[in-house]
Amino acid sequence: MKKTLLSGIKPTGQIHLGNYFGAIKQWVDLVKSGEYESFVMIADYHALNFIQNKEEMRSLTQELVVDYLAVGLDPKEVTIFKQSDISAHTELTWIFDTLVTVPFLERAHAFKDAEAKNKEISVGTFNYPVLMASDILLYSPDVVPVGSDQKQHVEYTRDIADKFNFKFGETFKLPKEMILESVATVPGIDGQKMSKSYGNTIPLFASDEEIEKAVMSIVTDSSGDVPTNVYAIHKLLKTEEELAPIYEANKGKYKALKEALIADLKAFVGPLRARREEILANPTLVKETLEMGAKRAREVAEKKLEEAKVAIGVL
Ligand code: TYM
Repeated sequence: MKKTLLSGIKPTGQIHLGNYFGAIKQWVDLVKSGEYESFVMIADYHALNFIQNKEEMRSLTQELVVDYLAVGLDPKEVTIFKQSDISAHTELTWIFDTLVTVPFLERAHAFKDAEAKNKEISVGTFNYPVLMASDILLYSPDVVPVGSDQKQHVEYTRDIADKFNFKFGETFKLPKEMILESVATVPGIDGQKMSKSYGNTIPLFASDEEIEKAVMSIVTDSSGDVPTNVYAIHKLLKTEEELAPIYEANKGKYKALKEALIADLKAFVGPLRARREEILANPTLVKETLEMGAKRAREVAEKKLEEAKVAIGVL
């Protein structure tokens, strides 16, 4: 019996090295191991909290499918699907909404951050963890590979599953997050967590010029031999053993070290970008991938939703 993997990304902008090393690389490796039935989602209904423009939503969604294919996710080996294609996600969210309390959701980090920035947050933002619980629980995954910023969401998912099971009988499998410690929080060019919303990213498919610009603007302090923020990003591409002689030979030479990082990033990103171009040249691939994915995801999700509907007594 294969184990099950589920994860996803919001189509809210270009994916970056944080998304790749924190989550996507683990998906690719686990899919290739052949040990998992895998589901990888485009969380477009989550993105709707941020992207409220038809053309933008459409193009960001398409781009993310192309990205998934370019990093080596093969639609024959992994179910790639769009959240909005599977209405079971929003339907189960309503069922969970009747169990989840307002104070429980008020304790979520993402809600507190959103509230600190903007008092008038949407109900969708508030309810974000419940939709995410539905995303996960419909597929009964053994692992949910994510970066550490999603840890609390998976904990919330377990709590919601537990509450449902306690009230209505064993229905949902309690999922576990899978977080690799070394890449749990990939830093951006300013040393903070790399994030679309902080404007400190290096895009995974960056052009050579974008790589140069991003690396040259990595924040370095003027003390010490090793520019910490440069080293932290470099460590994603090379082992500490490989980096030791480079950093030893260039102690305090921040420009030379940045140039070494630029060369390594170009060598890493170049083939990915080329693969992306190939995929873009085949415009039907995205459509076919999503159609195939929706079919398989729907089979699994509808079966679980039906179990939940029987358990609560509406079926
Ligand atoms: P999102 O779109 O913000 O990010 C996608 C994935 O990338 C990881 N990540 C990082 N990991 C390490 N370091 C970083 N700097 C970094 N930045 C981003 C995130 O942890 C995530 O794994 N709510 C989710 C999307 C989602 C989902 C799901 C995920 C919706 N439903 C069900 C798993 C299961 C999100 O906003 O991720």
